[in-house]
Amino acid sequence: MKVLNIGSLNIDRVYGVDHFVRPGETIKTKTYAEACGGKGLNQSIALARSGAEVHHVGAVGADGGMLLDVLKASGVHIEGTKSLSGASGHAVIQVDQNGQNNIIICGGANDSVSKEMIDEAVKEVEEGDIVLLQNEISNVGYAAETAKKAGAKVALNPSPINENLKTIPMDLIDYFILNEIEGKEISGAESEEPEMIMEKLKEKYPKAAFVLTLGEKGSWYFDETRCFKQEIYKVKAVDTTAAGDTFCGYFLSGLTKGKEIPEILKTASAASAIAVSRSGAAPSIPTYEEVDKFMAERS
Ligand code: RIB
Repeated sequence: MKVLNIGSLNIDRVYGVDHFVRPGETIKTKTYAEACGGKGLNQSIALARSGAEVHHVGAVGADGGMLLDVLKASGVHIEGTKSLSGASGHAVIQVDQNGQNNIIICGGANDSVSKEMIDEAVKEVEEGDIVLLQNEISNVGYAAETAKKAGAKVALNPSPINENLKTIPMDLIDYFILNEIEGKEISGAESEEPEMIMEKLKEKYPKAAFVLTLGEKGSWYFDETRCFKQEIYKVKAVDTTAAGDTFCGYFLSGLTKGKEIPEILKTASAASAIAVSRSGAAPSIPTYEEVDKFMAERS
């Protein structure tokens, strides 16, 4: 069973700041770094580093060599990722002293993922494969429809939240991997209270399975008949960027390996704790060996 990830690739421009810049304010950055990121790329790397077979479909610009290199070095298959003229997608990221971030993305080549590229990639899908999507490229809705027709299970990380989400046929999604903000938005719940989000999501999409990540409160898996909860592994937060992507990749990887949900949640939780304790997006994502060692030290 393989994962076909049709997703974004960004060059992350990361600014370490005392506090997030306020309206009208100019601040000087304490640190600056450029790293590989993009929700798509981060999730592909998490899948590959955890030992899953993952094929990434997307687009980079003329400056995207580093993005292709990190995918290849991590073991991601990139035959479906095109190099186009123009600029790659990029993100401007502020990381504060508590490791919290805020992010602005600029689509670049991610906005040129065409229906033809998706058709070509989905030809390789076999019954039961997972097609993974986020909301940072063009034609996400088309990708969900095409993947479903090809017999894939469709997983969606509906991030970031914006108008484009309305173009995605949510009733085709088999696995939602989302945080409480996204959960509230998609479910139509009145608050970010997890119980309420769970009830609303199950009511709206009774055939789907959900992973709800809740920051300090851990993570929940639920579907029509089951619910499992996992606490976080406490670490000092250095940079939370890509923690959710790491969780998502490790979760789906566990499914491809046929593991039980409680074990999958535990491993994904450990992987994302390690990512939180390190700087950067892609550079912070651990290998399976690192996650295994981390869990052994804490058992
Ligand atoms: O989820 C983190 C990612 O969001 C960053 O790597 C950035 O590129 C944006 O896509």
